[in-house]
Amino acid sequence: MADDLAPPDGPLAGKRIVLGVTGGIAAYKSIEVCRRLVDLGAHVTPILTDAALNMVGSTTFKALASEAPKTSLFEDEDPIPHTRMGQRSDALVVCPATARILSDYRTGRSADLLSATLIATEAPVIVCPAMHTEMWEHPSVQDNIAVLLARGVLIVPPEEGRLAGGDSGKGRLASPETIVDAVLGALTIKDLDGRSVLITAGGTREAIDPVRFIGNHSSGKQGYALAAEANRRGARVTLIATTQLPISPDINQETVTTAAQMHEMVTRHADAADVIIMAAAVADFRPVEVAEQKIKKANGTPQITLERTVDILAELGQKKKQGQILVGFAAETNNVAKNAQSKLERKGADFIVANDVSAPDVGFAHDTNAVTIYGADGSTTQVSLRGKDEIARAVFNTVVSADTASTKPARPST
Ligand code: PMT
Repeated sequence: MADDLAPPDGPLAGKRIVLGVTGGIAAYKSIEVCRRLVDLGAHVTPILTDAALNMVGSTTFKALASEAPKTSLFEDEDPIPHTRMGQRSDALVVCPATARILSDYRTGRSADLLSATLIATEAPVIVCPAMHTEMWEHPSVQDNIAVLLARGVLIVPPEEGRLAGGDSGKGRLASPETIVDAVLGALTIKDLDGRSVLITAGGTREAIDPVRFIGNHSSGKQGYALAAEANRRGARVTLIATTQLPISPDINQETVTTAAQMHEMVTRHADAADVIIMAAAVADFRPVEVAEQKIKKANGTPQITLERTVDILAELGQKKKQGQILVGFAAETNNVAKNAQSKLERKGADFIVANDVSAPDVGFAHDTNAVTIYGADGSTTQVSLRGKDEIARAVFNTVVSADTASTKPARPST
């Protein structure tokens, strides 16, 4: 069992999640959901229905979950396992949810351990239906979904795609990433509720001719992770990116290519933002002239004259409105602390998130990063190597503390 593998500081650390698995073909995907939840620090207790046991074995869950799966109301010494699990859970996830469990949950029919636990909890419930298109579209199923939604149950809708019988249509279980993201969203404190957050991501490209450009290795992963975290915390998010990665439809995404386009788009959105985070790797120089036709080798080695682009972060620092929090990144290869602190001052930012991109697995294109967050107030927060989503969480923890400090009501005078 995997409880000792759960990271103590993961975003779901200390959270108890019941993972209900019902008897759909998609039950095999719940194994991946289980593993990911444990990886994020959750204590996962699986409940497998009789039908689920026809699809997946309990041994797999025994190996991956935090405790052995429960399969019956009557297997434990505990005479009331459903109320105990319902009361002490932080969230219940039903994945996959068949038409049968939707109906039982809607009507409050406690026919087995899972349906009994579902009506014995006040914790958030996340239901992930999966079934054939005809079943999903049937009025009885849609009616049950509407009632559950009205009761505040979170539904992760099925996707279009290939179904168990080989045909295609709506009804395929949402991806494990989407499901885990919904769980994270349900369990994240909405401390950015009502706030507007602007984030940039990816590397700009400055054309030399129609086929060549000056660019860098930024994948956009760090900026996207920041946008997803801000969205989970309840902010209205605008993401200005040069790359296309999967992202919640709640996020307003603008796509740009060059530093000039990035500058224009950031300027358009900056005034409305309470928090701006410049995670993009913006070119410092661009060719003065862009050749209209492909430059030919036969004409000799070209001389390309470069000019400076606008330093967007520095401009934002000069125009910063009252209460706005401005965060820059610094991609450094040497003298990290000195360079980052000098950027903090020169660019008028509240925080600079410095990454030493010469270190292994840090910065450009990796799934991981390690940063030090330097504050204009003299604070320094070090975050060792971890996933970019974890780095994003640390950055927003810092931003939220600063936001809370700046909006704290003045002490009444005596
Ligand atoms: O995208 P990934 O593959 O996930 O990689 C993440 C990252 C390494 C790109 C990211 O963590 C990072 O360090 N981003 C900033 C990269 C960078 O351009 O650093 P810099 O030290 O050159 O710039 C300092 C700051 O000024 C940055 O906030 C940058 O957005 C900003 N800048 C730079 C130039 C310019 N013309 N305008 C700017 O606003």
